[in-house]
This record gives sequence, C-alpha cells and structure tokens, in this order.
Amino acid sequence: MRIAIFREHQEGERRLATSPRTIGQLISAGHAVFIESGAGAHSFLTDAVLTEAGASVLPRSELLKEPSLVLAVRCPDATFWKELPSGSICVGSMELTKNVPALTAAGDQKCTVFDLDLLPRITRAQEMDALSSMSNLAGYYAVMLGATHVPKIFPLLMTAAGTITPARVLVLGAGVAGLQAIATAKRLGALVEAFDVRPAVKDQVESLGATFLSSELTSSTAESSGGYAGTLTEEQEKAEHALLAEHVATADVVITTALIPQKRAPILIPDDMLEGMKPGSVIVDLAASMGGNCSKTSPGNTVLTDRGVTILAPLNIPSDLVMNATQLYAHNITTFAQHLLKVFPDGAIPEEPLEDDILGPSCLLQHGTPRNAALTGLLAGERP
Ligand code: NAI
Repeated sequence: MRIAIFREHQEGERRLATSPRTIGQLISAGHAVFIESGAGAHSFLTDAVLTEAGASVLPRSELLKEPSLVLAVRCPDATFWKELPSGSICVGSMELTKNVPALTAAGDQKCTVFDLDLLPRITRAQEMDALSSMSNLAGYYAVMLGATHVPKIFPLLMTAAGTITPARVLVLGAGVAGLQAIATAKRLGALVEAFDVRPAVKDQVESLGATFLSSELTSSTAESSGGYAGTLTEEQEKAEHALLAEHVATADVVITTALIPQKRAPILIPDDMLEGMKPGSVIVDLAASMGGNCSKTSPGNTVLTDRGVTILAPLNIPSDLVMNATQLYAHNITTFAQHLLKVFPDGAIPEEPLEDDILGPSCLLQHGTPRNAALTGLLAGERP
C-alpha cells in the first residue's frame, strides 16, 4: 500500500506522523512510504534523514497523484481534502468538534477517515492510543511550567537560614495527564493533592503518594461509557465547588486537566475561587484547548490576575516536546495503520459499516459517509 505523509498545516504544529523507525517498520511490512519534501523540518527530521530511513521524499504534487493511506498528526484543512484524490484514506487526531468544515470537504471527496481520538480505551488498542501518549507528555510538562512560574521551590529545604516548606500542588482531573502530573510533582518534592469525579482513580492517586480529596461526588454516576467522565448535574457542580474552594485557596500550583469528550471543558475554578487564591500562585490549565477549567483562562495566552495569580493555558504541549511526541505519535499511528492494513489488505475498505472493534469506533467517514453519531450531529448543525 502507498502511504503518504504531508507537511502539517496547523499553525505551530511541529510534530510529524512518522519517524525513521516507523518508516523502517512500514517498509519491512511491504509498503511504500512517500513524504512531502520539508515535512519533517520542524521535528528535526531532514529530507536526508527520512530518505536514509527508506522513504521517498517528493514534492507535494507528486504525493497527490494517486490515492494513498495518509498518516496525519492533526486534521488537514478543507483545501487539502479538496486536493486529495478521491478514495484516499486518512488517519489522525481529528479534533472533531473543531474541524467540521474540513471533515465536510473530506466527505465530499469520498474519503475514509479514522480518528485516533475515538479509539476504544481497550488493552488491544493501547499501543495506538495517541491521546494517552500525548497526555503523558503534557502532564509532565505542566509541572515543569508550574515550577518555573511559581516564585518558590517545590521541595522541603532545611537550611541554617530557616526551613522552606514544600510547595502545595493540586491536580484536578486524574486521567492520564493528571496522574503523570501527580507523579512528576511528587518526584520534585511537592505536597500533592488530587481530585477527580471518577471513583476508580482514588487508588491510583494514593499509590503515587498523593492525597485524594474525597467527596460524595465521586460516585459511579459521574462516569459515563468507556470510563470517561460525564457532565455533572447542577447539584454535583455545587458540591464540587464547595470541596475544591478550600484546597484551591492553599495551593501554590493548580494543574487542571478535566475534560469531557466532545464537550466544552467544565469550569472548576470560577471567578470567586480565583479571588481566594494565594498571590503568586499559578494555574496550569491543560484543558485550554477545550475552553479551559478556569473562568479566566485565555487559551494560548498567559493571564496575570489583579490578585497576582498566573494562569497558563498552553494549547499544544506535545508540539513543544516535538522529539518525544513525534517518536510516540509515530508509533501509535503506525500500529493503527498496520492493523488497518492487516484487516483490509491494500486499504480495500468495504462499503458496509466496519465491525472490527478498533476500526469501527474510530471510523468517522467511510467512503464519504459519516459513521459517527457526534459527527452526524455536527454536520447537521448541532453545537458541541
Ligand atoms: P480525559 O482526558 O478525558 O479527562 C481527564 C480527567 O478529567 C478524567 O480523569 C476525568 O474523569 C476528569 N474530569 C472530568 N470532569 C471532571 C470534573 N468536573 N471534576 C474533576 N475531574 C473531572 O481522561 P483520560 O486521561 O483520557 O482518561 C479517560 C479514561 O480512559 C479513564 O477511565 C482512563 O483510565 C481510561 N484509559 C484507559 C486506557 C486503557 O488502555 N485501558 C488507557 C488510557 C486511559
């Protein structure tokens, strides 16, 4: 099968969907890998390095001559889909709610599109799970950002001039990113507390040496299908607010990671809670790309409140950590592509809905037909 990797078009995106190692794996499996010239420039993968790994590095127009299996980091724009030969297959992290016009163009072009964000969180799909590998990096780096912006150190320090007490770090949302943030902050010597609405995470939080903030809120009703959190009721939101206000007020660094699939991120730190925070404290809002967990978050910007609280809202940490992120993402997407080509040799996707337990749930468009309920709703004009 012909596999094509194009230059990523989204502003500031530095990752590439392949690496020298995964090019070798695809070629050993009998596929041909074509890469747009210059596509790896921002991930320190020059055309020479990619050619040496076995890829054919060509101008974009050459890659667009025949249908291919396109491996992408993020959803290409509408212009790209219009150029892509009809019948192409594309895999990537499609950020469904943000890319409706682009996906409409993909549908018009009768493309088949798989979204790595929709992979089932099952053991068999773990090697393909780009959400987890990217969240792991983001969780680590959020602590680095918090530690460099807070005007104090993390660990306990006993000196002749006095004792410095450890910094207090509060992590809200203990999914993959939150758990990595807890582990990283602990390693740096902070006192760590964490909260999540899913009861299943209590043991995981405690096993990392952090204190889990318990509440009646952490009931199984807060968990929807697939292990994800659902939207809270008004009453549950009030209870969460009451629980968090006291702990947010004593924290030096708050790392927020709370997400609900395909919905705006919940506001966990509203204005009144922000007013109660210590001057000099820092919030690192990892949910910024979905609107943010703090009322004053400005996605992609840093805000300093009148009270002296810094709110960081990074939008694409994996791109900042491009070396590790490209390595992990390339492995995730290549494992998915190999599975796809094992189930459908030569990319011969049938017309009927896919029954495979990995390909079925992650299929957004099949020969241009929407196969995902959320996408169907968005195409019909529903709001996320
Ligand atoms: P996520 O990125 O969707 O959300 C982050 C965290 O925010 C979640 O833990 C969620 O419960 C929490 N959250 C949502 N609303 C909240 C609120 N109002 N207050 C506090 N916390 C809130 O989650 P992620 O990291 O993608 O994990 C989702 C699920 O997938 C989890 O059940 C996780 O254990 C599972 N998973 C399973 C894997 C597997 O292979 N079996 C691999 C990775 C994750």
